[in-house]
Amino acid sequence: MHRLDNLFANNRAWVASVRKEDPHFFSKLTDQQSPEYLWIGCSDSRVPANQVTGLMPGEVFVHRNIANVVAHGDMNCLSVIQFAVQILKIRHIIVCGHYGCGGVRAAYEDQRLGLVDNWLRHVQDVAIKHRAALDEFGNDEARLNRLSELNVIEQVANVCRTNVLRDAWASGQQVTVHGWIYNITDGLLIDLDLSASSTKEVQEMQSRAMG
Ligand code: CO
Repeated sequence: MHRLDNLFANNRAWVASVRKEDPHFFSKLTDQQSPEYLWIGCSDSRVPANQVTGLMPGEVFVHRNIANVVAHGDMNCLSVIQFAVQILKIRHIIVCGHYGCGGVRAAYEDQRLGLVDNWLRHVQDVAIKHRAALDEFGNDEARLNRLSELNVIEQVANVCRTNVLRDAWASGQQVTVHGWIYNITDGLLIDLDLSASSTKEVQEMQSRAMG
């Protein structure tokens, strides 16, 4: 049996390098976490939340699934949002999509991959909703890129419509929802300028983003 010794060797080397920078790093994190950010991103191995934002353990609470979907009935994602907002009191929720997303492509091309097809129906719903806007783009690559952006816009709106966010804003809690997209080809994050920090701003954000 292969025990993946290389990963344990990597782990020990990483611990040593972190301790060299800060000998108390791990003991400081032992008691609690107090991250300022919740990251909702794609499971894609090329888009790791901590690395692309330069954040250390303890600094970002993370939920990832295929094509960064926030589905109204997904207890996993909703529980993460509730825990992050109500218990951890994070200040920012970042929904981050990415160009070159295999999930978005599979949805767009209506590929038959198995169980995941049902999950990607959520992205197909986004494509159907915005078919006229997508058709304005001349080629499939441009349409796929725009669908990735539209998917972020819709998932940001879905986060904002949860009872968790509505209750937080109604009670005056400061929490802002952001929509970003990551470019696999150069490693850069792009802010889609979708920020919403109140129920009123959600509608403004959506009409501006679709503009
Ligand atoms: Co993806």
